[in-house]
Amino acid sequence: MNKVYKIGIIKGDGIGAEIVDEAINVLDAVSSKFGFDLEYSEMLLGGAAIDETGVPLPPETIAGVKKVDAVLFGAIGGPKWDNLERHLRPETGLLGLRKEMGTFANLRPALVYDELINASTLKQEVVKGVDIMVVRELTGGIYFGEPREYSKDRAYNTMVYTREEIKRIAKVAFDIAIKRDKRVCSVDKANVLEVSQLWREVVEEVAKDYPEVELTHMYVDNAAMQLIREPKQFDVIVTGNIFGDILSDAASMLSGSIGLLPSASVGSKVGLFEPIHGSAPDIAGQGIANPIATISSAAMMLKYALNEVEAADAIDNAIKKVLADGYRTGDIGAYDAKEIVSCSEMGSIIANYISKA
Ligand code: IPM
Ligand code: MN
Repeated sequence: MNKVYKIGIIKGDGIGAEIVDEAINVLDAVSSKFGFDLEYSEMLLGGAAIDETGVPLPPETIAGVKKVDAVLFGAIGGPKWDNLERHLRPETGLLGLRKEMGTFANLRPALVYDELINASTLKQEVVKGVDIMVVRELTGGIYFGEPREYSKDRAYNTMVYTREEIKRIAKVAFDIAIKRDKRVCSVDKANVLEVSQLWREVVEEVAKDYPEVELTHMYVDNAAMQLIREPKQFDVIVTGNIFGDILSDAASMLSGSIGLLPSASVGSKVGLFEPIHGSAPDIAGQGIANPIATISSAAMMLKYALNEVEAADAIDNAIKKVLADGYRTGDIGAYDAKEIVSCSEMGSIIANYISKA
């Protein structure tokens, strides 16, 4: 009998439904090819949850994600919900979900597809061969630190990290580096912030257990500049929540479109897999979104959560092949396109390549 995995599906808002539907399309193709079954259960989050239940993270979703093997998520947010109080905003739902799930390590690869080398705004020689893994701490730092307060004339947040939180994210980064080029660059602002001083000390300590991995440190402002100046100097970047948020957006443009890059949030029993881009309300419902980041997130799910590595590789290869064959969604349509396709066409072509391979 086939293995059965339970997958939580959260489509979310904006382009969320379109891109997740294509990822499911592709998952169905790999599961029948590689002989396992996926059982999906849909859950609400963000604006869709607010509309239906009044809150961005309903209790059913919190209970639901604990009963599955992995969660695949699209994107949340949109102008419709922008004026709500902070605790009712879609984003608060996503942050709450990450915290509830305990997914403290967010892996964000920034990889340049040779097939799309022209899509980057940077020169070819700068980006060709870039393969970076940003390891972003996801459930701590200034996003969650207390105290925090907003009032009309004064507002603040707190950037806090404990030794334990730093240690566990550093370990994830070193464990990943061992399987890659064995270089970790830890990014902080230790020249200004006490929280970064501790970050640096703890990362140094963890490094002692990984003598084969080279550790360097970089201030975040310099790291932003170096990512654009000479991205190939990086292998694994490990950093805190907000620095990782910013640097991963910057790193994504090395590839030419934020619509291409996936992410995996791991560290606890159930992982959360999502594209790094947002819900793009401006193009929602038009069928022109790029589903590749979400399809690629589904591949990360197969690899990291379900250990179906061959199936994950099949997806990655199919993505490379569609790009090599010149199929492009609008966001990357100006670069070596043979045919501009819709979101659903892109999903179907990738699924077909997998079934036929
Ligand atoms: C991301 C997003 C989120 C974040 C927002 C939507 C809360 O920008 O996943 O990078 O800041 O983490
Ligand atoms: Mn972000």
